[in-house]
Amino acid sequence: MTASTANTASLEALRRCHFAVDLGAARTRVYVKGAGLVVDQPSAAAVNTRTGALIAVGDFAEKMTGRTPGYIRVVRPVSGGTVVDIEMAQRMLRHLLGDRVRRALRRKPRLRAAVCTPHDADPLSQRAAIETLVGLGARRVELVDTLIAAAVGCGLPVEQPEATMIMVCGAHATQVAVLSLGSIVTAVRVPVGGEAVDHAIVQLLRHQHELVLPSQSVRPLQLALSGNGLTPQGPSSTEIHGRDVATGLARSVRVDTATVRNAIQTPLTAVLDGIGKVLRDCPPDLVADLADRGIMMVGGSALLPGFDQMLRQATGMPVHIAERPDVCAVQGLGSMLEGRVEPLVLHPTTAGSDSHADSD
Ligand SMILES: Nc1ncnc2c1ncn2[C@@H]1O[C@H](COP(=O)(O)OP(=O)(O)OP(=O)(O)O)[C@@H](O)[C@H]1O
Ligand SMILES: [Mg+2]
Repeated sequence: MTASTANTASLEALRRCHFAVDLGAARTRVYVKGAGLVVDQPSAAAVNTRTGALIAVGDFAEKMTGRTPGYIRVVRPVSGGTVVDIEMAQRMLRHLLGDRVRRALRRKPRLRAAVCTPHDADPLSQRAAIETLVGLGARRVELVDTLIAAAVGCGLPVEQPEATMIMVCGAHATQVAVLSLGSIVTAVRVPVGGEAVDHAIVQLLRHQHELVLPSQSVRPLQLALSGNGLTPQGPSSTEIHGRDVATGLARSVRVDTATVRNAIQTPLTAVLDGIGKVLRDCPPDLVADLADRGIMMVGGSALLPGFDQMLRQATGMPVHIAERPDVCAVQGLGSMLEGRVEPLVLHPTTAGSDSHADSD
């Protein structure tokens, strides 16, 4: 497999990296060479606003969301594929890595890191990712396109001359691409992801049932829809607990699953439009390959019950979900670090001089 796209570093450079980071809007994942996936936690930090001290990160911080006294704030330093608060992202990463891993990394004479960024990441957001890792001690940071990292991570045969379609379903965005011969033929990024789906469900309950749904209750509701997922064959209604909008008291309602399906149709339609656009931009020969090979879904939102079935119905193409869809991108980076990805003999990888940044 090769990893030669405009904003992807050369395999040679990646093999020299010591660790790799996938800073997602929902979760942060870190792969350390030789040690594997060492961090997979929510991208959240709880801060004491009086002292500025960090109280918790990751899972603990996420659990505090909506339950903190006024002086504790839960912040999310990554939004929409961009590190929006570099300093906080660095503090969060330091805590997530822990002393032991950080000590091990500090011992490297010239620490090198890889980080994946969204396909259409602008220079500012690439800069923010680089700066975050430089703050962690990296002397050199290699950027990898998330689509390539995810394709490698789920074992797609991207080095073949046949086309494959990959769909990275994140929290804030969905990226769809056609890959052939190790590079991206066409790609789009739709600013709609798992969070938009959750939001649609919360809004529906607020408007139709005057019920405030705690964020942790969205997942059970999605599960209630599963079995037959987003298709109409599932149970026709399900019981949901929440809080009354007006009185604030606990209350439960029976929710019609058809209305929930309708509510999440809007964000999902945007994703379908993205697939349509990629197919329209794709050379006809490759589209023919796609009809057999279908779409590979990766990213946490690929686990949304029935999402794959819906795509199958809408596109008529085979749809597969990667084995561990949520960690594909970081595992792909890991494979590149460990040198498990062979460069293409006929198409040597090209190292883009603007694809990486040196901190010195
Ligand atoms: N079992 C599940 N069912 C439905 N949705 C899920 C499930 N598991 C995770 N998700 C959703 O997946 C999203 C997180 O996916 P992922 O971990 O790929 O995001 P991310 O990489 O942090 O985000 P991004 O790539 O957009 O920056 C969340 O919106 C979450 O609600
Ligand atoms: Mg992601």
